[in-house]
Amino acid sequence: MAKAIALVSAVCILALASVAQSHPSNGFNVSGKVYCDPCRVQFEHQFSYHLPGATVRISCFNNLTETITYTAEGVTDKTGYYDLRVKGDHHNDLCEVRATKSPKPECSVKMFHAERHYFKQSADNLVQDLKPLGFMTKGVLPGCSIVEKMG
Ligand SMILES: *[C@@H]1O[C@H](CO)[C@@H](O)[C@H](O)[C@H]1NC(C)=O
Ligand SMILES: *[C@@H]1O[C@H](CO)[C@@H](O)[C@H](O)[C@H]1NC(C)=O
Repeated sequence: MAKAIALVSAVCILALASVAQSHPSNGFNVSGKVYCDPCRVQFEHQFSYHLPGATVRISCFNNLTETITYTAEGVTDKTGYYDLRVKGDHHNDLCEVRATKSPKPECSVKMFHAERHYFKQSADNLVQDLKPLGFMTKGVLPGCSIVEKMG
């Protein structure tokens, strides 16, 4: 029963999304998590952990006018997730979210693969889930030779 309701609401959301796309957007949200990788492999594994209090920055860029059309900054909550509003209409823009500051000095090395992700506008008032962002440590834990990819 719960599954049926979830399916019905998913269908409704998709229907709303396609309606919303024909009008200029009022904005949408992007969310995701920030993690620490103490093995420097740049993916999530059994030794990685979420980072509450990490700073993430959103910016949208219009490549025709070559201007930055939106910026916002936020911090991950106590579970390591952020949820940020991208206000206005950005259908002509390419946006990015970037992990700019780690709350932990011992895990603050920038990643090549998960320092930033690019995204395009999603339908009005929906939350777009983005791939995880992360920081890594300077050294690696002794157990890191047996990392197993998660998530
Ligand atoms: C601008 O972005 C659009 C859509 O992503 C792309 O098709 C176009 O080639 C880009 N133009 C330039 C000058 O980079
Ligand atoms: C969108 O982001 C704003 C600002 O972070 C937040 O207040 C709001 O609750 C978010 N909305 C949704 C639907 O997650």
